[in-house]
Amino acid sequence: MSLSSDCLGIPELRGLIRRLPRVFLAHVPTPLDYAARLSRHLGVRLYIKRDDATGLGLGGNKVRQLEFTLGEAVRRGADCIVQGAAEQSNHCRQAAAAAARLGLDCYLVLSGDARGGSRQGNRLLDELFGARIERVETDMGQGIQEAKKAVAQRLLAEGRRPYLIAPPDSLGLGAVAFVDAFLELMEQAREQEVSLQHLFVCSCGATGGGLILANRCLATGLRIRCVSPILWEWPTDQRLAEAANTAARVLGLDTRVTPSEVDYTNAFVGPGYGIPSSEGCEAMSLAARQEGIVLDPIYTAKAFAALAAAVRSGEVPPGSTVLFWHTGGSPALFAFPDSVGA
Ligand SMILES: Cc1ncc(COP(=O)(O)O)c(C=O)c1O
Repeated sequence: MSLSSDCLGIPELRGLIRRLPRVFLAHVPTPLDYAARLSRHLGVRLYIKRDDATGLGLGGNKVRQLEFTLGEAVRRGADCIVQGAAEQSNHCRQAAAAAARLGLDCYLVLSGDARGGSRQGNRLLDELFGARIERVETDMGQGIQEAKKAVAQRLLAEGRRPYLIAPPDSLGLGAVAFVDAFLELMEQAREQEVSLQHLFVCSCGATGGGLILANRCLATGLRIRCVSPILWEWPTDQRLAEAANTAARVLGLDTRVTPSEVDYTNAFVGPGYGIPSSEGCEAMSLAARQEGIVLDPIYTAKAFAALAAAVRSGEVPPGSTVLFWHTGGSPALFAFPDSVGA
């Protein structure tokens, strides 16, 4: 039976989440920090949700998501996991660390279609965590999913019990993790007596989808803007709505989000996925020099550039209370030294 989201508050949503298989990996709650110098610089009240500090394997948003995807892997009795993405993938690095924590073998299929191909940053950490790496020359969309599936099938034929981290499961369970994260944020905001008006997050999938769903259920009135780091072959708003709706189904909620309700921008991808942009590099330098915060040039710097641009254009009015959700990714910086200006 589906539940109507109209009658749900934080305890009810937590109750639904508690029914799902989960392994505990993240240091939570992550801090909700007031950024005093950046606030003064931008002319708004800026808070930063520090999911770069989730702990495991140098942290990031995916540690939260892996609590549910690997919870499902453990429930199914997997002895290894298969994940794959670009060479400098944060998700792969966090999956490798989580697999090590759980005593599972980790197979990573890494595509060399973006820059940052050196044995540095996330790629180096993958090795440190003991992941078995297979390189493929394919695109980041369907191509990489097919390559991951082929590795899982080979492992199965060898008598292994692989768990493949892939949509739609990873999308829905990843979004559930960010429903949970949103509840955490709401409690912190209440404790700190902060009334948030605008939220910016780098996402075109599970992270944003979960936040949108939880925001809808709790009817907070907070405006969530998802900043996409990539132009997929499918529309960004559809993907975010699909993530929200898959999570709703997993939780047994009858809530449905339509693409037209999704607030997103593709305007900060810059030269392309996996390639630093000049606006992003500027934003990365601003966060580092005003607050000592490390963003990464591929994801979070581009999202912070979107926030800064919205404030400067007046789209976010002066004096507004704004949250930047720092989704991590900092290790990738070491693979892109040229993104740091003098
Ligand atoms: C640092 C960082 N931020 C944001 C995202 C986007 O997350 P999602 O795909 O869950 O929307 C990623 C995805 O890999 C990431 O590594």
